[in-house]
Amino acid sequence: MSREHRFFFNDLAETWHNKTPAQSLAYAMQYFGIKEDDMVLDIGAGRGALTVPLSTLVKTGRVVAADLSDNMLSSARKMLNAEHAHYVCTDACAVSFRDETFDKIVCYSTFPHIQNPLRALVEFLRILKPSGKVLIFHNCCSRKLNHYHARIPNVVTFDKLPKSEHLQALLRHVGFTEIQTVEKPDLYWVEAGKDVS
Ligand SMILES: C[S@@+](CC[C@H](N)C(=O)[O-])C[C@H]1O[C@@H](n2cnc3c(N)ncnc32)[C@H](O)[C@@H]1O
Repeated sequence: MSREHRFFFNDLAETWHNKTPAQSLAYAMQYFGIKEDDMVLDIGAGRGALTVPLSTLVKTGRVVAADLSDNMLSSARKMLNAEHAHYVCTDACAVSFRDETFDKIVCYSTFPHIQNPLRALVEFLRILKPSGKVLIFHNCCSRKLNHYHARIPNVVTFDKLPKSEHLQALLRHVGFTEIQTVEKPDLYWVEAGKDVS
């Protein structure tokens, strides 16, 4: 785990604001196939920008908002009235969930900050139920995001989102199947499934 990242995101918690409208995120999550009885993990949930739209779609299931930063999660808890949401402070590289817990995992605007992405993908596969799906999602392409991070002189300077074809290869290496990718200037969407067997 990166202590520097935890400190950085803890300091950012009061001011972090994701400007993407909740409605667009809800459409994206519907497109991803979130169902009302799903167990969903929002990994790197921050202040819950995605937790709220997820909670409007999940009725009888549960949304778990997980993050490395306890300050981010405290802000999320204060700001949100997400009925089906639960908050867990954990590192994506060693998550505190049992095998085959989730139907869906969404990693929104977070993947480049995870210090050991391969380990995180292995964890995602472990905690997904058979036929479950993971989505790694950003509102811009890797080139734009990496350029943006490189201009910030702090712990995220070298946080890189891999090109979608590189992430696809990593996912395949770890054991995911049915990988679909879209990468264009205003969207990075990489989803993958876990086989039944
Ligand atoms: C750029 S913010 C995005 C937050 C939220 N998804 C949003 O879009 O508003 C990245 C988040 O990832 C979290 N994060 C970074 N590394 C992590 C890790 N290894 N495990 C879990 N969360 C992590 C940070 O604490 C931060 O809240």
